[in-house]
Amino acid sequence: MDVGALETTILDIEREALGALEQVADRAALEEWRVRYLGKKSPLSQVMRQLGSVAAEERPRVGEAVNRCRDRLQTAWETAKEALSERLLNERLASERVDVTLPGRRRERGALHPLVRVMQEVEDIFLGMGFTIAEGPEVETDEYNFEKLNLPKDHPARDMQDTFYLTDALLLRTHTSPMQVRTMEAMRPRVPVKVIVPGRVYRRDEDDATHSHAFNQIEGLVVDEGIRMSDLKGVLEQFARAMFGPDQAVRLRPSFFPFTEPSAEVDVRCINCGGAGCRVCKDTGWIEILGAGMVHPHVLDWAGYDHRRYSGFAFGMGVERIAMLKYGIEDIRHLYQNDLRLLRQFARPV
Ligand code: PHE
Repeated sequence: MDVGALETTILDIEREALGALEQVADRAALEEWRVRYLGKKSPLSQVMRQLGSVAAEERPRVGEAVNRCRDRLQTAWETAKEALSERLLNERLASERVDVTLPGRRRERGALHPLVRVMQEVEDIFLGMGFTIAEGPEVETDEYNFEKLNLPKDHPARDMQDTFYLTDALLLRTHTSPMQVRTMEAMRPRVPVKVIVPGRVYRRDEDDATHSHAFNQIEGLVVDEGIRMSDLKGVLEQFARAMFGPDQAVRLRPSFFPFTEPSAEVDVRCINCGGAGCRVCKDTGWIEILGAGMVHPHVLDWAGYDHRRYSGFAFGMGVERIAMLKYGIEDIRHLYQNDLRLLRQFARPV
């Protein structure tokens, strides 16, 4: 074997390998290069295999030349590997770079609708007085919406609550009062019954500043032995103070509901003027917030609570009414139009 030719081959291999290394651009190509020029089947290994055919006294020279070449390739590979790692890192850092001086993207925060807020507030107050919360169907039967509440068919008091009928027997409830009956029927004969019922109700009314064909009520019912009108007044006074302020007062005016006897309309001191008289209270100093009364004996008996042993009070308040008073909203329709100028006022400051 011609030693000179072998040495030339080794130099060629080195030149080729180093040239190829300059073209390497990623980790896969680098690994390919390593296998190709430093692996078992590399041209250098092939030269080593030919060493046997070299004259014995020349072998060390050729062997050394191969080893030097391999060392240089090895070193070149390591250098290239480090350079590549650094380049890849820099590229990644550049691509993931954030400009911390950019203004942030503000996240819009939602808020509870004023009606929901009032409902939750009312619920909290009554929960604090030991009431539980129940809910009932909006599609109600004539029987529960009217008859079991002492409003027989053709009773003139039905005119006050004309509604939407699905069939002769099925309608959209005009008030949450049917839940008085449903609650008592579910609870009998246990006492005390002490429940509030928030929910949507419907009336066949023309929409205007103070009327809506759909609105919300919160019903209250307490039944036990020895419940008296003064209990009703005390509970409502407690409620009014928690809701509107510690020096609130309530006033009961005689009224009529077929399912309570006696019945009352309940007023609070005008929230706007404190009782002095203003446009909101039409100069009376008082504002009506709910209807109430002692549960009618018929209603108690029909629902399974003997009126000779048990008595109770009930009330029903309009949620919209309270929200309008509390937040000074002058038109009920504002509560349904999703006008952001109104709703934003109830968003918590960010
Ligand atoms: N349900 C009556 C209404 O909607 C209010 C009410 C409830 C009155 C309970 C008395 C007792 O007008």
